[in-house]
Amino acid sequence: MNRKKLIKLAVIAGLVGFGAFWLLTLPQTLDPSKVAQLTGSAEKGALVFAAAGCSSCHSAKDGDPLILSGGRAFPSDFGTFYAPNISPDTENGLGNWTLAEFATALKKGVSPKRKHYYPAFPYTTYQNMELTDIADLFAYLKTLPAASNPSIAHDVAFPFSIRRGLGLWKRIFMPNGFHMPDTGLSVTEKRGRYLVEAMGHCTECHTPRNFLGGLMQDRWLAGGPNPDGKGRIPNITPHADGIGGWEEIDVVTYLNSGFTPEYDSAGGAMVEVIENMKHLPESDLKAIAAHLRNVGPKEK
Ligand code: HEC
Ligand code: HEC
Repeated sequence: MNRKKLIKLAVIAGLVGFGAFWLLTLPQTLDPSKVAQLTGSAEKGALVFAAAGCSSCHSAKDGDPLILSGGRAFPSDFGTFYAPNISPDTENGLGNWTLAEFATALKKGVSPKRKHYYPAFPYTTYQNMELTDIADLFAYLKTLPAASNPSIAHDVAFPFSIRRGLGLWKRIFMPNGFHMPDTGLSVTEKRGRYLVEAMGHCTECHTPRNFLGGLMQDRWLAGGPNPDGKGRIPNITPHADGIGGWEEIDVVTYLNSGFTPEYDSAGGAMVEVIENMKHLPESDLKAIAAHLRNVGPKEK
């Protein structure tokens, strides 16, 4: 083959490669007609807000948990992410967002400007939320105080600074649907799965990540090194290395008071999770306990 032909081939290969990248990484949006009929109840949304723990990331550290001004830093191997302002401010918050845009952010991890979000925002969990819950949550967020501060830009190095590439990450690490299959689950167990896998993002802390930041499916809820660098996140599978010795009542007591069966009290990142869990009805905490019993036991 002569040189000209080779160059031509290389250019074609490059274009095909770029085209494939472009198509594979295309940000997806939610069809707005799916939420057009939903009005949303702020009262019900308060519970969704607690269960989904939005405040633990979006309120200022040690600030009012209902002012979602953002600003908390989340260091990772890829750089530091800052939670944005999601208060109802029209300039710097979600004041002008539509429900369809909000649902697209939570279920697809895509912004109103059609950019991919980083998975530091746990949409890999929230993608499993029901649209009615998302509408209720949106209605509730609108009732919270507005904060006028602008969001802080992330401090992430190339190539992770290119959001488009996250489209590939999503294809590999954002499986559609729940980790635990439907088969044979009672109503309570289904509710528990929903609270753990769609709202509580328990998995986002209790499941270790691979070097690309994807959750290790075979180590589901088995704990691992703390991404903050301090200590370990405990194993919460029903194994002797995890919470195999805990009864339902132990899990419920821990989630609404922070006390373990050994009368230790919860520390670290779990403290804020418990602050949220306290707002849930006991039936929901029992459902979480039932779900955790069903998870495959894994050693440390
Ligand atoms: C573990 C921390 C964490 C939790 C929990 C969390 N978020 Fe976020 N959120 C983030 C981060 C970090 C970003 C920035 C993502 C990016 O810029 O790619 C973000 C981005 C967003 C955005 C996009 C804002 C914008 O300006 O484009 C919305 C909307 C949002 N979150 C809503 C929520 C809601 C609602 C909840 C609860 C259901 C929630 N978040 C829970 C960390 C979190
Ligand atoms: C933001 C990270 C984070 C999230 C989200 C999270 N946890 Fe935890 N969890 C922790 C940490 C850290 C500890 C260890 C607390 C300590 O050291 O006292 C812990 C401890 C626990 C324990 C006690 C285990 C033991 O052996 O003492 C249980 C049970 C638990 N979490 C369940 C849950 C459930 C259920 C959810 C979801 C509703 C959840 N966690 C969400 C970080 C998290």
